[in-house]
Amino acid sequence: MSTFRHPGLAEPRTKEEWRRYRDSRPPTRPAMPSYQQYRKLSEEDREDFDEDRDAFHSALVLVDTAQVKRLHYLMKRRMKANARRAAGGRAGIVLDGPPTVGKSTLAKLFGARHENRLRRRHPERFADHYETGGMLIDYTPVVYLSIPARATPKDLSVLLADYLGMVLRGKATQTDITNQVLTVLADVGTELVIIDDVHFLDLSAREGRVVNDHLKYIANETAATFVYTGVELKKSGLFLEGQTSSRATQTSGRNTRHAVTKFGCRTEADKTEWAMTVKALEEGLVLFRHKPGQLVKQSPYLYDRTGGSICALTDLIRESAVEAVMSEEEAITRKLMDRIEISEYAEATYREVLKQRRKPAARPKKAAS
Ligand SMILES: Nc1ncnc2c1ncn2[C@@H]1O[C@H](COP(=O)(O)OP(=O)(O)OP(=O)(O)O)[C@@H](O)[C@H]1O
Ligand SMILES: [Mg+2]
Repeated sequence: MSTFRHPGLAEPRTKEEWRRYRDSRPPTRPAMPSYQQYRKLSEEDREDFDEDRDAFHSALVLVDTAQVKRLHYLMKRRMKANARRAAGGRAGIVLDGPPTVGKSTLAKLFGARHENRLRRRHPERFADHYETGGMLIDYTPVVYLSIPARATPKDLSVLLADYLGMVLRGKATQTDITNQVLTVLADVGTELVIIDDVHFLDLSAREGRVVNDHLKYIANETAATFVYTGVELKKSGLFLEGQTSSRATQTSGRNTRHAVTKFGCRTEADKTEWAMTVKALEEGLVLFRHKPGQLVKQSPYLYDRTGGSICALTDLIRESAVEAVMSEEEAITRKLMDRIEISEYAEATYREVLKQRRKPAARPKKAAS
């Protein structure tokens, strides 16, 4: 029995799943009738229409935030610089940031856009039977791997082999698998390898070195640019050999680390960037009584609620939009958002913000008389 995996809901594990992700399109925006027409719809028609709106709200829009644009620019530049570089480790990119700041989304979006650009320029490569160098190949320019917890170097090679659809012999050793993977990566024209959640590799002092050596070996023997994402990589064994060592690993010597962060709230530029993101998400609402700009006005409140996390922000707006339809309020107001609970972490942060605000301001000390 084949299971239906929604392309937007799970991380791709094979090249076929990656292609489904790359080609997935969000639901189309439902055309809005007038409110009077809507109220006159039969119960069933209204239910169908509301379901289309729920789907649209649930998908929400992906925003090209300033951070997304900046990091995509750097990744693109690095790929161009690497394109025809002589063999040997090409410089890669490490995206390092706390959980739920949008690292995976950013990396996958880059991969999908890169592949779509290639398709525009070289449509023949994407044909079913693409022949190059006398060989029929399944052109696979982008590889995306999401690393499971405590993965070993062999797991990494097996994940690559699974992604590429390779059939492995039962007794294949790590070296066999790695060598086969390297041959296939070269044959199918891979030029970008994204390794997501690289902190899940076993980087403990004992295993860390082996993992680092393995990563370096694969990156060295491949004509692809590597992009790694992960949490707290600066302090991890990916950059240092063992937690206490200060000797930089060869991985760190080769890659550039970029921090991926939450939105800030200090400067005017921070505030504008946050408001622009809220605006982009607000434009994705299909509600009858919601006035454009109504949500942007709540930007400071939204910041307090979410602490500047894109994940918490999209969760809150998504659920509020569904609530606005279900409750028939048809607008996202502050009162409505007050009723929506999001992640425990975001809620705890918000409680702290409110607590700090309720504290009376410290009185100035009286000057000694
Ligand atoms: N650019 C964006 N536009 C709109 N929504 C986004 C964007 N980036 C992230 N999100 C939302 O935030 C959620 C979390 O993002 P993502 O999974 O990319 O974060 P992450 O940093 O990889 O998290 P983790 O560290 O847990 O793997 C996504 O499911 C999506 O809903
Ligand atoms: Mg992620």
